[in-house]
Amino acid sequence: MIPAVIISKKRDGGKLSEAEIRFMVSSYARGDLPDYQMSALAMAIFIRGMDPQEISQLTDAMIATGNRLRRVSQRPRVDKHSTGGLGDKTSLILGPMLACCDLDVPMISGRGLGITGGTLDKLEAIPGYRCDLSEQEAEHQLAKIGCFITGATDSLVPADKKLYALRDVTGTVPSVALITASIMSKKIAETLDALVLDVKWGTGAFLDTLEKSRELAASLCANGKRSGIQTTALLSDMNQPLGRMVGNACEVDESIQVMQGSGPSDVWELTRELGARVLVSVGKSATLDEARRILQGHLDSGRVLERFEQMVAMQGGDMHASRKLGKVSQVLANGSGWLTRIDGQLLGQAVIVMGGGRVQAGQRVDPSVGLSVEKRLGDRVDKGEVLVRILCDDPAKVEDAKALVRDSIALGDAPGQVFALWQDFIPEP
Ligand code: URA
Repeated sequence: MIPAVIISKKRDGGKLSEAEIRFMVSSYARGDLPDYQMSALAMAIFIRGMDPQEISQLTDAMIATGNRLRRVSQRPRVDKHSTGGLGDKTSLILGPMLACCDLDVPMISGRGLGITGGTLDKLEAIPGYRCDLSEQEAEHQLAKIGCFITGATDSLVPADKKLYALRDVTGTVPSVALITASIMSKKIAETLDALVLDVKWGTGAFLDTLEKSRELAASLCANGKRSGIQTTALLSDMNQPLGRMVGNACEVDESIQVMQGSGPSDVWELTRELGARVLVSVGKSATLDEARRILQGHLDSGRVLERFEQMVAMQGGDMHASRKLGKVSQVLANGSGWLTRIDGQLLGQAVIVMGGGRVQAGQRVDPSVGLSVEKRLGDRVDKGEVLVRILCDDPAKVEDAKALVRDSIALGDAPGQVFALWQDFIPEP
């Protein structure tokens, strides 16, 4: 097969065959197809889209480039995945929390993608933490403590490892087809019984409207179901960051605060809601209310934090080594009013220009930089009040970040619309 012919077919809006999809994906994973041809195909898919059959075939082709994880115990296997958002740190809490419920949580996660941060980059802000567990190490850890959070590797969904890094820097992230295949290839390879998806919408997500996020949720859930996974989804609001912190080390710190019972309430509420859907899916709880009570009990008893510490230690991390944070600068309000808009795209770019995300594949991120967003939508703001704190040592980067942060925030004469933090995705019958 000739790659340029397949790329041109999709460029012109054609439907790819299963054989063509498999050829491109397997050649790329093996290293026989160069990045520039895969980028061209990803851009063609981004612009032209794929139908549900092509999306399923793309997902399966990606899974076929690696192994599937094996069951290591009788415990139900569950996971959660987010479609990506600003300040989204729920995985750090949810993995250990579900492990406290006698469930196995084999979480294959991702790095920063586009303007959003990645769970792996966040965890690597903990000195020593390894996101490249071998299958044997992952299975051993799962059998022992019921959870791990690691990345795709050369044997676990290698196609996603490469394509994810490529999409991050080629403007090809916000595609229903590519997001579905990326997420569901990892989740199906985990051999799950139940999965909850956090499908984000708003200025700080890849899809800006509720309508588009519903389309993505439907595509993700359809692929979960056809693989025999009990799949549910929440649509969650990303018109402002989740919690206050956006970055890497600062988000680990905020997650630990939540696990200690403090920290921003929205982070805990969304984490608990996602976890509750999993408990009901696997029959650990009869109702969502019962599930919420169980999860609250694990948090309050300190067991979630304890399990997180065990996971970090088993993955080589040192929780007690200091995690450097950048020097603090402030962005002050230059007028008074109600906070009506936070443009998450610009806030995400502010983190990237400081080095907290990548502009080229394979770059190292600076875990110390980030933002602390001090105001929420609907808040009253007086002139001179702190809107955002910037964490960064480099004065030139701080100036670039300040300009983006200023542009990201709008004040109005009246409180604007504030959206519900989450709502259930109800699939069409
Ligand atoms: N998370 C993933 O793993 N892949 C995407 O494409 C988006 C979010």
